[in-house]
Amino acid sequence: MRIEQTITVQWRHQVHLTRGIFRPANPLLRQVLAEGAIRPLKALMVVDASLAAACPALAGEIAAWAEAQRPAVELVCPPVILPGGEQVKNDPEHVHRLHALIDQHHLDRQSCLLCLGGGALLDMAGFAAATAHRGIRHLRLPTTTLAQADSGVGVKNAINAFGKKNFVGTFAPPFAVINDFDFLAFLPPRDRRAGMVEAVKVACIKDREFFETLERDADALARLETAPLEHLIQRCAQLHVEHIATGGDPFEMGSARPLDFGHWAAHKLEQLSQFRLRHGEAVAIGIAVDVLCACQMGRLSAPNADRILTLLERLGFALFDEELVRTDATGEWLILHGLEEFREHLGGDLAITIPTEIGQRMEVFKLPPEVVRQAISGLRLRNIRR
Ligand SMILES: NC(=O)c1ccc[n+]([C@@H]2O[C@H](COP(=O)([O-])OP(=O)(O)OC[C@H]3O[C@@H](n4cnc5c(N)ncnc54)[C@H](O)[C@@H]3O)[C@@H](O)[C@H]2O)c1
Ligand SMILES: [Zn+2]
Repeated sequence: MRIEQTITVQWRHQVHLTRGIFRPANPLLRQVLAEGAIRPLKALMVVDASLAAACPALAGEIAAWAEAQRPAVELVCPPVILPGGEQVKNDPEHVHRLHALIDQHHLDRQSCLLCLGGGALLDMAGFAAATAHRGIRHLRLPTTTLAQADSGVGVKNAINAFGKKNFVGTFAPPFAVINDFDFLAFLPPRDRRAGMVEAVKVACIKDREFFETLERDADALARLETAPLEHLIQRCAQLHVEHIATGGDPFEMGSARPLDFGHWAAHKLEQLSQFRLRHGEAVAIGIAVDVLCACQMGRLSAPNADRILTLLERLGFALFDEELVRTDATGEWLILHGLEEFREHLGGDLAITIPTEIGQRMEVFKLPPEVVRQAISGLRLRNIRR
């Protein structure tokens, strides 16, 4: 006997863009929380320590906002301040702490964990939310360029384990995402810039017009001007959400992973550099490696490859790092291990997305080590010449 059914689950994925989310005149957060909520709604808030330090007024703003929401929303304790950055994904104790708080304050599946922070904190808190009671609501308030444009608007969360990025995690669409541009003002320039690379990534493989806009805005973006940066975030977030909703594989069951273009080398570089390189900085290098590989394999023209590399450089990214050429005791380039680790992480066959034109892509199922080594040598040379 065989019993078989198809289970269809519908998810609503909402991303809002706003300013001043805790201002009394801004009703958005209250409205989003009210959707389908039982009253009173219990909420736990987690805040990125760097944001809290850079914006001392935030604690007071949140307290005033929380006071004004009662009794519809009950913040069960003052916001929990947790470190941002990769360290928060490297120590499973943070997940445990959030689980303990969820238990202690009796949050259930109708309750909500709100997280204000960069992609790393959102990844960790999202994992805690997805696993407490098998999933309580998670409302993301991304506060970095990268998280607002890319990671925060997606459906994945994870922590690192066994020296590997995102080894433990789930696919769990957040209850909602709210991008508040005002938070970006507190970001150090390095983090404001780093996230721009995900826009270059998605433009390269999906949207020629967006790529041309980025080229036009490159000087203003390099100066970290607000208006083009906000436009970049908006379009990048839209392309990511569209891909998740309409790309046919929201939970990444297949091997093809277009949004991971440039990421096999990036993940390895982050790990090799012991996270000295920011995710975005590593992705810029990873894109450069794959672009030159595509060029060598005859899939992308040299002028188009140069165009992509030039845009990244104009935005202020370095495209070479010594970690690219670090070797093990046998003289093998450690970066090459990233390919197998990436395959393992994807499951199934290796599939690497490369651009074939600006705005178009294909999958390749092999990157010969020689091609990668040559690409890296090309980047090294380009770096010396600059
Ligand atoms: N889930 C996904 O789909 C996905 C996709 C891409 C990347 N990621 C993950 O996202 C992480 C990177 O995220 P990120 O680039 O946002 O970096 P991050 O979270 O490491 O933040 C960078 C730094 O900025 C601080 N910070 C955050 N917001 C701030 C603000 N407004 N003002 C001042 N400081 C602030 C943080 O504390 C941290 O020190 C990586 O762990 C990466 O693996 C996840
Ligand atoms: Zn990324």
